[in-house]
Formats: sequence, C-alpha cells, structure tokens
Amino acid sequence: MSAKVIAVTNQKGGVGKTTTTINLAQALAIRGASVLVVDIDPQGNTTQGFGVPLEAIGKSVSDLILNRDLPADAATYAGDGISLIPATRKLAEVEREMVGMTNSELRLARTLKAVREKYSVIILDVPPTFGPLMNSALNAADSLIIPVDSGFYAMNGIKDMLSEIEEIKVGTNPNLSIMGILLTLADHTRMTGDVFDELVAGFGDKVFVTRIRRNVKLKEAPALGKTIFHHAPTSTGSEDYLSLADEVLGQLNLSQNEAAQNELAQIALVAPMVAGGVQ
Ligand SMILES: Nc1ncnc2c1ncn2[C@@H]1O[C@H](COP(=O)(O)OP(=O)(O)O)[C@@H](O)[C@H]1O
Ligand SMILES: [Mg+2]
Repeated sequence: MSAKVIAVTNQKGGVGKTTTTINLAQALAIRGASVLVVDIDPQGNTTQGFGVPLEAIGKSVSDLILNRDLPADAATYAGDGISLIPATRKLAEVEREMVGMTNSELRLARTLKAVREKYSVIILDVPPTFGPLMNSALNAADSLIIPVDSGFYAMNGIKDMLSEIEEIKVGTNPNLSIMGILLTLADHTRMTGDVFDELVAGFGDKVFVTRIRRNVKLKEAPALGKTIFHHAPTSTGSEDYLSLADEVLGQLNLSQNEAAQNELAQIALVAPMVAGGVQ
C-alpha cells in the first residue's frame, strides 16, 4: 500500500475546502480506507472541526516543516479510523519563515513520503492564498480536489488556480493531476444549475457527479467538533460525502474491499476525535 495524496484546494475562501476535507476523510474511513488528514491552514479549522482541543496539541505540522528530521509520526494524532496532523496559529509565522529556508516548499512532500506506506489516502486541507503553504501542498500531492461554490463568482477563481497548478507541474511536481472539481453549497436555485453546467462545459468528466448540497447540519458540525457522520448520520450531508468517497475510491482504483483490508480501518461510527482519542 502506498497512499495517494489528495490536496483540497481553491484560493477562494468559503467554498467548502475544510468541510470537504473533514467529511470526505471520515467517509473514506467508514468505507474502510485508512486515512491521514494534514491540516496545512494556519486557521486550523480542520483541526478544530475534528474536535481536537488546542491544549492537547504538542507537535504540529509547523514542527514538521521547521525540522526536517522530525518524522510525521511525531505530530500525528489518532482518531477513530482517522489520523490527523494538526495546525495551529503558529503556522502563519512559519509560512513567513519559509521564504528564507532552502527547499522549504518541498519539505512536507518529503516528510509525507516516509509515511505513505501506512495509509491508503492522505488528504491535505490547504489555505486559500497562494504562498509557501499552498505550494507545499501542491508539491506533496498526487492529485487535487477543487471545491467550487454554487455562487455567481464561482468560476472566477478557477482559472488562477489552474495556472498555479501548471506552474507546479512544469516545475517541481510533473505528475500532479486534477482528480475532480466538486460543486459545493448546491441548492435548487437556477444559479446552482448554471454553475454546474458551466463546469461540465469547461471541464467535462473532471467534474464530480456528486454535488454537495447545502445542509445546515454540515454547518453545525464543526462547532461541535464532530464530523457530519457523528453529528447527523442520516442527513443529506452524510449522503453526499459518502457518495463523493465512493467516486474517489473508484478513481483511486481502491475498491471498498481493498480499502477494508487494512485492519486499522475496521471502524464503525464511533466517537469523534476528542481529547480522550488524542495520543
Ligand atoms: N454543503 C454545505 N452546506 C452548508 N454549509 C456549508 C456547506 N459547506 C460548507 N459550509 C459552511 O460554509 C462555510 C465555509 O466552509 P469551509 O469548509 O470552511 O470553506 P473553506 O475551507 O473553503 O474556507 C462554513 O461555515 C461551513 O460550515
Ligand atoms: Mg478552510
């Protein structure tokens, strides 16, 4: 087994990157995959969304970037079916320091390479700004999921994102690919339909069939430190993220059974990643 690394990225904020990271990761774990989530956003929303208390965090992704010799395991926290490398506010300062560090944008890739054998999927939550952290994610990733909200300006950001991806491909990560563009915050309005049609017209089968519907349960869950599957297992949010997980497993050629062979991953729906679950 060698994990596929997927970065969830779009330089537009509020499009559902963090919501997708948390709930896709949990859905993949429910389907039997062993999943590592890496929070690379200094806002730490993914870390908080999994319910990890700040005071429980010792080493974080910042330490992995600052110290080349520190193994990923030193900053990995165990949840139920999911492992997490958390981010804290310190990461904002680390990003500024990265500018003067040799190959700083390749460090995360190298650190993660050493733990690929332990997981079937590694998911990165990426900040919404072009800079050393986004570049770190694009260098570490095999493929990208680009969430796009169903709003009027949805298409605006995609072109910038695509040219950034091209830059990385001709430079340091030639194998980077787009796994899919994901419509989020979908509702019954005409706008949602128009944005979806426009995406399909522009990107064809690179658009996920699954659309993530607007669901208030998805909004409530992170404040409770819970994934959607712990907060509202019968919601449309749960349904949509499971459907996305199935598409992702299909693209990775990981059947549910194959994913389930990993014994660590034999989880049922249990408690979220709370203090007691953190190593
Ligand atoms: N499908 C959805 N339905 C309802 N609210 C959502 C949905 N997806 C995201 N949200 C909410 O929208 C806001 C932005 O989402 P978030 O995942 O934090 O975006 P990003 O990480 O791209 O900034 C959050 O308050 C989140 O709870
Ligand atoms: Mg976010």
